[in-house]
Amino acid sequence: MKKYNVGLIGAGFMGKAHSLAYAGMPMFFWPAPGIPVRKIMCDVSDELAKDAAARFGFEKYTSKWQDLVNDPEIDVVDISTPNNTHAEIAIAAAKAGKHILCEKPIATTTADAFAMVEAVEKAGIKNQLAFNYRRVPAVVFAKKLIDEGVLGRIFTYRGTYFSGGDTKGGMGWRQLRSVAGYGSLGDIGTHSIDVARYLIGDFEAVNGLLRTFVPERPFGPKQEMHKVENDDEASFSIQFKNGAIGSIEAGGNSWGRNNQIAFEIYGEKGAILFDYEHRDELRVAFGDDPVDRRGFRTISTGGPAHPYGNGLWPIDGIGIGYGELKIIECYDFFKAIAENKEATPNFRAGYEISLICDAIAQSSETGKWIEIK
Ligand SMILES: NC(=O)c1ccc[n+]([C@@H]2O[C@H](COP(=O)([O-])OP(=O)(O)OC[C@H]3O[C@@H](n4cnc5c(N)ncnc54)[C@H](O)[C@@H]3O)[C@@H](O)[C@H]2O)c1
Repeated sequence: MKKYNVGLIGAGFMGKAHSLAYAGMPMFFWPAPGIPVRKIMCDVSDELAKDAAARFGFEKYTSKWQDLVNDPEIDVVDISTPNNTHAEIAIAAAKAGKHILCEKPIATTTADAFAMVEAVEKAGIKNQLAFNYRRVPAVVFAKKLIDEGVLGRIFTYRGTYFSGGDTKGGMGWRQLRSVAGYGSLGDIGTHSIDVARYLIGDFEAVNGLLRTFVPERPFGPKQEMHKVENDDEASFSIQFKNGAIGSIEAGGNSWGRNNQIAFEIYGEKGAILFDYEHRDELRVAFGDDPVDRRGFRTISTGGPAHPYGNGLWPIDGIGIGYGELKIIECYDFFKAIAENKEATPNFRAGYEISLICDAIAQSSETGKWIEIK
């Protein structure tokens, strides 16, 4: 079984999630498409990188991502750093011929995203963006039902992503435009856009509003008030290319909700509801049920009969979480490398999502529907 040496850049939240996935993937999916070897860990200082290497199980460490990217031992570069660093690292990694797993959103500007697409397509390496929610087994099962025609023609899609509601809480790099790009739209809205494109298809046009309801928040070591530089709420309507219509709301001021990505899909023959707060379930209603039996039924999607069930836990209902989701993402990425197939969603998909975000921002400024180029 082929081993792949991984260099991971960024030892924060995603560094932890991806390290768990590299360790866990062959334990869950066996035979594995490849064995990820946690080779080099990188963060901004030697101290941080050394500490993270010990914690996350990497053999070596560096504080210079350029050294990691150009190390001939490295096969896969994992970019788990804030958004404004993705482009420079990814372009260098592509030039060095490494496969790349990059966190979302792809970049802070569409120009950077396009340069990344050009670099990876020229290099011919596998590139995948970490839009992990399309890989929840229930979401993959929803896609299967749609592809089988169970819903018939899709009429409407309604997506929401409410990430929590601390209107008094402090801010970090996500609220700085130069580091994050868009705010809630880029951070969580892009996940919902990816899921909508995966399930329903390409976007034709959008009409939306971006708002910043909390204009300043405590920031930095002294927790002084600082301007929030991007949107904390995004809400937009969608015309899909296939004729379906829909909407997405992505909000960072949603008391009582914590990382709740959800959708409702209504078609001519039935409907599907999904809510990440109940991630091992899909609720379905079928139009050909007898009139006196109509309504939603809940399918349990967390067992061997459902997508990725061959690798996850043997008992339906035992529950999967974010860790398993990242393990699934890692499995699919190494499968694409091993089978020499396109990884999905790739950088081109991320660039297309970036174009959609720009169109939503333009619509918010002009009050008009904006066609997606
Ligand atoms: N897929 C998801 O569900 C999901 C969830 C959270 C974050 N993300 C994405 O993951 C990325 C990282 O987010 P996070 O929450 O892990 O951030 P974080 O702030 O927790 O961690 C980022 C780490 O990167 C390091 N870093 C910054 N610049 C660096 C550089 N030039 N070289 C080396 N290390 C550097 C920081 O010191 C920090 O340790 C972002 O793009 C974010 O949007 C995705």
